[in-house]
Amino acid sequence: MSEILTLKNINQYFYQGSNKVDVLKDLSLSISKSSKIAIIGSSGSGKSSLLNIASLLQSPRVGDIFIMGKNAAKLKDIEKSLLRKKNIGYIHQQNSLLMEFSAFENIYLTLLLNDFNSSYAKERAYELLEIVDMKDRAMHKPSALSGGEQQRVAIVRAISNSPEIIIADEPTGNLDKKNSDNVIDELLNISSINNTSLLLATHDLTIAKKMDKVYILNDGSLFEYEE
Ligand SMILES: Nc1ncnc2c1ncn2[C@@H]1O[C@H](COP(=O)(O)OP(=O)(O)OP(=O)(O)O)[C@@H](O)[C@H]1O
Ligand SMILES: [Mg+2]
Repeated sequence: MSEILTLKNINQYFYQGSNKVDVLKDLSLSISKSSKIAIIGSSGSGKSSLLNIASLLQSPRVGDIFIMGKNAAKLKDIEKSLLRKKNIGYIHQQNSLLMEFSAFENIYLTLLLNDFNSSYAKERAYELLEIVDMKDRAMHKPSALSGGEQQRVAIVRAISNSPEIIIADEPTGNLDKKNSDNVIDELLNISSINNTSLLLATHDLTIAKKMDKVYILNDGSLFEYEE
């Protein structure tokens, strides 16, 4: 099957008092295996809403989300979280690591939660830290890591259980250019090796252009970006 994630006729809106705020209007998007999609758009255009819906963190008012061909709306909550856990790696803009735990533990615990046994999880966690050149920071808690280092850990944590798709909401939002280039290159590199699809929101066009396809989110709809 080549479609990993499909959003169909998604409508998202909120009420502020009696005022209806339309965020996503009848939006559809399909992401096939290994493809890398960027979403750009101004602040408040609905990028995070779109990504939260795609990752099953938020439900749309109207519309369907298919993950690996399964209609998420038709699933019970427990099935939905299993589908999410197995197939989606999520990277936030910042502070997504568990602050009480070391870089190693952040990955190790994620693997345990994904039902891997302890010795495999330990080995794999170090292996992943090695990929992003963070093995010598394994025992550092996030507060003792730089922003770029935290994001490198967040990336390998997101891919630790080999999800089909990584969804990243401005993963380099708080980094300087050098770190943000490194983080994105690592993300692309790891995704390519594993044939992972990527859905990434960014305000940085240079980063967006590193993906296969760029969409602009404007007035609740997606438009293909062409130069
Ligand atoms: N729970 C909510 N209730 C009301 N309005 C909301 C709610 N969540 C989001 N919105 C509105 O939806 C719009 C889109 O928000 P969203 O966070 O998706 O934008 P964004 O494109 O990610 O912005 P940014 O680039 O600043 O992160 C905003 O105008 C926001 O005010
Ligand atoms: Mg946002």
